[in-house]
Parts: sequence; C-alpha cells; structure tokens
Amino acid sequence: MALKLNEKYLSAFVSKDEIDAMLPEAEKAVNTLVNGTGAGSDFLGWVDLPVNYDRAELAAIEKAAEKIKKSCDIFVVIGIGGSYLGARAAIEFVKSPLYNNLKKDTPDIYFAGNGLSGNALDELLSICEGRDICVNVISKSGTTTEPAIAFRVFRELLEKKYGEAGAKERIFATTDKAKGSLKTLSDKKGYQTFVVPDDVGGRYSVLTAVGLLPIAVAGCDIRKMLDGAAAAREALKGKADSDCARYACIRNYFYRKGKAIEILACYHSFFTMTAEWWKQLFGESEGKDGKGIFPASVIFSTDLHSMGQMIQQGTRNIFETVVDIAETGAKAVVPNDAENLDGLNFIAGESLNSVNRKAFQATALAHSDGGVPNIVLELDTKTEYDFGYMVYFFETACAISGYMLGVNPFDQPGVEGYKKNMYALLGKPGAENEARRAELLKRL
Ligand code: PA5
Repeated sequence: MALKLNEKYLSAFVSKDEIDAMLPEAEKAVNTLVNGTGAGSDFLGWVDLPVNYDRAELAAIEKAAEKIKKSCDIFVVIGIGGSYLGARAAIEFVKSPLYNNLKKDTPDIYFAGNGLSGNALDELLSICEGRDICVNVISKSGTTTEPAIAFRVFRELLEKKYGEAGAKERIFATTDKAKGSLKTLSDKKGYQTFVVPDDVGGRYSVLTAVGLLPIAVAGCDIRKMLDGAAAAREALKGKADSDCARYACIRNYFYRKGKAIEILACYHSFFTMTAEWWKQLFGESEGKDGKGIFPASVIFSTDLHSMGQMIQQGTRNIFETVVDIAETGAKAVVPNDAENLDGLNFIAGESLNSVNRKAFQATALAHSDGGVPNIVLELDTKTEYDFGYMVYFFETACAISGYMLGVNPFDQPGVEGYKKNMYALLGKPGAENEARRAELLKRL
C-alpha cells in the first residue's frame, strides 16, 4: 500500500471504538458506491478506469505527447477546474513546482484559461514570443468561458504564426465525444481530439486524457500512474474497513463535533497544486445542501509562519489532515561551519528532510495540544505510482464521505450561479439573459 492512515495523533480526540462505531455507516456508503445505487451514479466511470482504460486511447495519448515534445518549446494547457488542476498537480508533484526551470528535454508547460486575468494572458503571450508553441485545450462541456477565451487567443496566434494547416498539427483538443462548441470547432478545423468519458466528472478526470496528455508531455510515465490507481482500487474496492473508509469516518466524526474546516497539510512545496486539486475534489463534491466540510490547505513549515498562529490558538473549528511523505529523494544537508556564528552546528550534517520530519512531529504534537486533531496519511514517495494511488484514495474517500454526509458527491449545481449572472452582465444573447441583466443592473 503506497498510502496508509496513521491514527496515532488522534487519541486525544476520538477513540478507535468511536471510529469503529461509524464503520457500518461507511459500509452503507461503500455499498452505495460499488452497486451504483446512490445519487450521481451516472458519474462512476472513474471507479474502474485504472483497469479498463482504453489501451488504444492511452497509446494515442503517448504518441501525441511524443509529437508535442518534438515540435515545441512551450506547451500551453488551456482549461479550468477539473480540466486543469489534476495535470498541474501531477507535474508539480512528480517533477517539480519549478518544472519550467529544470534542465530537461521536454517543453516548458504553461497553464492558461484558468481565470480571466488579462495580465496573466498578456504575460504568457509575451513569454511565447519567438518560441514554438503547441496547445492542448481541455473542456468537457466545451462551452466554459474562461478556456474558450484563452483558446480563441491562442488559436489566432497559432494560425497567424503557422497558418491554418500548421496550427492544426499543433492544437490538441480534449472534450466530449459528440457535443459542445469545442467538439464542433475541433471537427471543423481537423484537430486531433481526445475524449472525456461521459461518466467521469471534471474533478474525477485527472486519470483520463484530461490529465494524462499534459502529464505525459512533462515526461511522466502515465502507465505507472494508472498502475498506482489500479493498486489503490484493488486495496480499497468494496472494503468498509479500509484506511480510506476510516478516513471518511473520521472526517465526518469531526464535522459532527463542530469541526467544519479540514486543512490539508504537507511539508513540501511540490504538494501545493495537489492540495488545490484536493480542495476542488472535496469542495465541489461535499459543499451543497447547506452542508460540507470546508477544505483548506497549507504548506508547512512555510505556512506555520503565517497560518500557524490561527491553527494553534484560533477558533477551534478545524482539524488537519497531514500527508507525510516518507522518502522524497531530497539530498540537501545542513553544512558544518567552523565559526558557528548562527549557532546551527547542532544540526550540521543533518538532511533537510530529517529536519523537516522533526518539524512535522513537533507541529502535530503542538497542534494536537492546541485542540486541533491531526489525521496523518503516510505516502511512500513521490513517483507517478504514488500520485496515482493517492488520487484514487482521495476520490474514493470523497465519494464515501459525501454519501455519509447525505449529499450527491458527483454534481456541482452551485457552480452555475456566477455563470448565469456573468453571461447576463456581458450581454450574452437570449431572453433569459436579458431579463436577468435588467434585474442585476438595478442591484449594482
Ligand atoms: O469539476 C467540474 O465539473 C468543474 O470544475 C469543471 O471541470 C470545470 O468547470 C471545467 O469544466 P469544463 O471541463 O466543462 O470546461
């Protein structure tokens, strides 16, 4: 097992018996998931994906990745939410948050269309000047405004730079198999397309072409990633007493005790985007019907110097889930200094990882003493396999936890709220938009 639950730091807050007492509830949720009898059961494609992934599609992804690697200096990945976070998380986790600055034989990768900041787009366009570019536009619905705008800009750029025929060889679209404007446009222009399966929602889609193409372009082994997910599936499927189900129980236990905020913590900056992916997974899945644990994240020890005070002594409505990575391959050590003016010789020769580990143990105990329970998830290392395993673990935990909470973990009706208002304010044609626009303008 690449990822294990450690309940050691929880003893002051919840007993093993109390967790065990919730297992029948978890069992019900697990059965609902396995039998596909719960809300959102049309979106369970991710459950068996690691073992029944279309091998021809996988080979096509790898082939496209090789073509992209050979033909560009910059690979622009356009997408938002579930069509963005997983790929970026994987690349930063397995390679580095400084991936673009590494010596490598793969293209730099930039993400666009994940917001509406004109500055972000201007800066990226300036970085692209004089360099060869390929683009992967990703949108399951094919209609999301943010990526659609960014894609329009990059499509124009590529068509001007390489001509229509040249641009066609450099643009890859990942979208629905049949519907949406992106599909229509891609077919008309003749772009190579990859399919987001109907039964896999955005935030569960990192192990489809949505995530796998950009991840493969970064030089990661996507088959190993799927192997990791398949191993997690084998370890967790249908089991109500798995670490995954226990994690779901503990989260719900704390939520019922008034701890409505879960902070995901890790002691490595390469985890920052994985935490962003996790926040979307749990936030969109559980935050509905007036319920849900608010998912937050920190990177320690960095954030111990910003959020540490709040966690140690602020409102006692939080619990932490710490992803503790046993072996990261880091080599840095604290050097010896004969003068010892900074007084650090007591740790001279220690690896940074060993110092970091002490920081983790010290913080887990301090936060527990301060009334913040620490759930610990121990991950072996930071390979593609571990990433795949962890993704599957969290996806399963999220589904079980959502069912225990009594919500549909696979829909996101609330996301439409801002979109409707934005379309109206932007003057999108249509009677409904016009009526809403008049009403909104009165309120602004
Ligand atoms: O999880 C989700 O469903 C969302 O975050 C979507 O992934 C996001 O809104 C992007 O949607 P689309 O891929 O349709 O452009």
